[in-house]
Amino acid sequence: MIENTLWHPVALSHEVLNDEPLSAALLDQAVVLWRDGDGAPQAFVDRCPHRGARLSMGRVENGHLECPYHGWQFASGGQCVKIPAVPDFVPPPSQCVRSFAVKEAHGLVWVRLQDADKASELPAFAAETDGHLRKVNCGPYDVAASAPRIIENFLDMSHFGFVHDGWLGSRHATAIATYKVEPTDTGVLATGCKAVQPQSNLHSTSAAEVEYTYEVTAPYTAVLTKIPEEGTSRQGWREQIGLFICPVTPETSRVWFRLAVADFESSDEQLRDFQHTIFVQDQPVLESQLPKALPLDPRAEMHSAADRMSSAYRRYLKACGITFGVC
Ligand code: FES
Ligand code: CO
Repeated sequence: MIENTLWHPVALSHEVLNDEPLSAALLDQAVVLWRDGDGAPQAFVDRCPHRGARLSMGRVENGHLECPYHGWQFASGGQCVKIPAVPDFVPPPSQCVRSFAVKEAHGLVWVRLQDADKASELPAFAAETDGHLRKVNCGPYDVAASAPRIIENFLDMSHFGFVHDGWLGSRHATAIATYKVEPTDTGVLATGCKAVQPQSNLHSTSAAEVEYTYEVTAPYTAVLTKIPEEGTSRQGWREQIGLFICPVTPETSRVWFRLAVADFESSDEQLRDFQHTIFVQDQPVLESQLPKALPLDPRAEMHSAADRMSSAYRRYLKACGITFGVC
């Protein structure tokens, strides 16, 4: 499965503690996350190779992961280094638990289940390196929808007047102006996406016309960029919201947003609350969509001219050979 060779977010960095393992799940695989003696994140199959107990129920002892059942200890990389019932025994290299590649970025821990011939990169999030912008993560949200359905919802402006009436749109102004869609090296880009929003952010006092670009930067990652109005003091700023999704099963997902914003006055909680308000408006509709997997056959659902970005996203998933969360 091509998805196994990609990087996926599995937890917030600060949730992976130094002294306690954390269970996570990715692409139908149970994973245990923990930190070794150097604080480096580790990701193993969450099943002990001795008698199959869940390693995430164990503990971290002297920089090793200890199984809750018979106390076997595993070092970073997966090698078994201690079998308490046979203290003098030195476990051979074959006595190990399968480990996965791990990285930390964007406030998240990322895991890749399988090595690829071609080194795969983390999905791009340009605002990360912009020192002017403040970064705040929101989530996780556990959503009973496939990752591609959630990405598609994020790319879609024509639901604003209904799902976000009075916030991101109005049911009395629902027309979507033509926007441009083009493929990129890593995904799909939509530019010139305009909307009149009653409450486009937490400081809005009146409706504003906003212009966005939407970019799919990996099969389960999308980035929204806000283009400031001409002549405003924010000219040149490029605030972004990253949507990072962990495909847990084909029909369930764990979701984080990363806000990169020029708002330094609001508290983290205020920024999260606004994002939360919007997402919990989306969530029930998202969870109601059937089939839960995103149909890639263009004849399976009906489309309008406003759906050009979603159609481009579906073609991109198909071209990538994605099979998890699509049908
Ligand atoms: Fe893990 Fe026995 S099942 S040590
Ligand atoms: Co929405």
